[in-house]
Amino acid sequence: MVMLSLSCCVSAARVVAAGGSAERHPVILIPGAGGNQLEARLTEDYKPSSLVCRVWPLVRGRGGWFRLWFDPSVLLAPLTRCFAERMMLHYDADADDYRNAPGVATRVSDFGSTSTLRYLNPSLKFLTGYMNTLASTLEKEAGYEEGHDLFGAPNDFRYGLAGPGHPSRVGSEYLHRLRLLVESACAANGGRPAILVAHSLGGLFALQLLARSPPQWRASHVARLVTLSAPWGGSVQEMLTFASGNTLGVPLVDASLIRDEQRTSESNLWLLPAPRVFGNTTLVTSRSHNTSYSAKNMTRFLRDIGFEEGVEPYRSRIRPLVEALPEPGVPVTCLVGTGVDTVESLVYGDGGFDEGPEEVVYGDGDGTVNLASLVGPIKAWADSPAQVVEVVELPGVSHSGILNDKSALRQIIRVVDSINLNATSYQTS
Ligand SMILES: *[C@@H]1O[C@H](CO)[C@@H](O)[C@H](O)[C@H]1NC(C)=O
Ligand SMILES: *[C@@H]1O[C@H](CO)[C@@H](O)[C@H](O)[C@H]1NC(C)=O
Ligand SMILES: *[C@@H]1O[C@H](CO)[C@@H](O)[C@H](O)[C@H]1NC(C)=O
Ligand SMILES: *[C@@H]1O[C@H](CO)[C@@H](O)[C@H](O)[C@H]1NC(C)=O
Repeated sequence: MVMLSLSCCVSAARVVAAGGSAERHPVILIPGAGGNQLEARLTEDYKPSSLVCRVWPLVRGRGGWFRLWFDPSVLLAPLTRCFAERMMLHYDADADDYRNAPGVATRVSDFGSTSTLRYLNPSLKFLTGYMNTLASTLEKEAGYEEGHDLFGAPNDFRYGLAGPGHPSRVGSEYLHRLRLLVESACAANGGRPAILVAHSLGGLFALQLLARSPPQWRASHVARLVTLSAPWGGSVQEMLTFASGNTLGVPLVDASLIRDEQRTSESNLWLLPAPRVFGNTTLVTSRSHNTSYSAKNMTRFLRDIGFEEGVEPYRSRIRPLVEALPEPGVPVTCLVGTGVDTVESLVYGDGGFDEGPEEVVYGDGDGTVNLASLVGPIKAWADSPAQVVEVVELPGVSHSGILNDKSALRQIIRVVDSINLNATSYQTS
């Protein structure tokens, strides 16, 4: 069952007034890649590549912890290198799992709270695009209260999950903590099931949480999954990231400096275009290799760009994961931005992949994720009679702009209010 509503046509009626009396379903915010703070500590095993990296940052907190993500000093070239070597993951073939760089301990603090996903750096509040506006809109317009019925599930977004039979310590631990958070949020709110609001990569984690839980658990703990810009089938832009590095539009950063770090991120491999969504379509052409690549040629692509280390984990861990795109099994509302120029294919010239693309062809999407990936899988789920799916297209709204866009926020409040109204009227009738 699918309901397609266009934001321009929906006038969201406010149904539950803000205030203490409403029976609210708890809301859990799940951020996307880079959407929450990450802390690090260096141990004696750390092998700094330079003197600067040995001493930076000069000021550290208790136990030597400092903010790894996000710190603006990363914009200065010598420090970009320190940042990159600390963010880097390593695939341990013997253990068949990813781990941190030697001597770098990392942690995600304040799990359960929205604090580290409201701002990536509390002293840089102008850095918007993250979940503060959404959290405060839920507080102001729907009566939500931090720690009472509003929660956050920050994650170490460098790590992902793997297909069946492959360990994924950090990602699995995250799903475990998320499951416990959902349970305690429900318990603290009269047993009312939670509303999961997930941005980007967070949507993929939420889907895996649901897919890996028994149907009774889903029914009694999750009222709805609301996804914002979820890249269900990955994005072509990710191939650009792997081939040439991606500074995410941050000026002054040397893409090649961070490319090696980005290549090691397990979640980046997860976000490469999935064959079941992109099929045989040519996504990248390389004149120097005299070859073109579709999503089905990803191992060849990784090899040709010079990232042999990624081939085996992609083949064994990631491809089985993205090939199975299970339906969520709870009602879903997918908010997707459309009509923003999005990388659809890339042409590399005689200089090879290191030179950067000679030509970039743009198509429809949210500026980061292609339309086919945003809506394709949802259409497949909608064929299942038991699966409730609502798709809300937001014209001109970008991948992270969706977190601050008024029409998107209005839609989220509409969904949350209608679920809460249901709870209230259900109890009183
Ligand atoms: C994709 O390619 C395979 C083999 O190259 C072919 O069997 C299949 O029909 C193609 N699918 C589409 C949708 O073109
Ligand atoms: C490139 O590939 C085509 C067919 O795939 C072949 O005909 C051509 O000779 C190749 N060119 C070079 C320079 O290898
Ligand atoms: C890409 O994948 C298709 C379908 O599996 C295959 O027919 C083709 O030979 C592959 N191309 C390359 C360059 O590996
Ligand atoms: C409201 O509750 C009814 C009965 O449980 C359910 O069928 C319906 O889907 C709910 N609506 C929303 C918006 O959750």
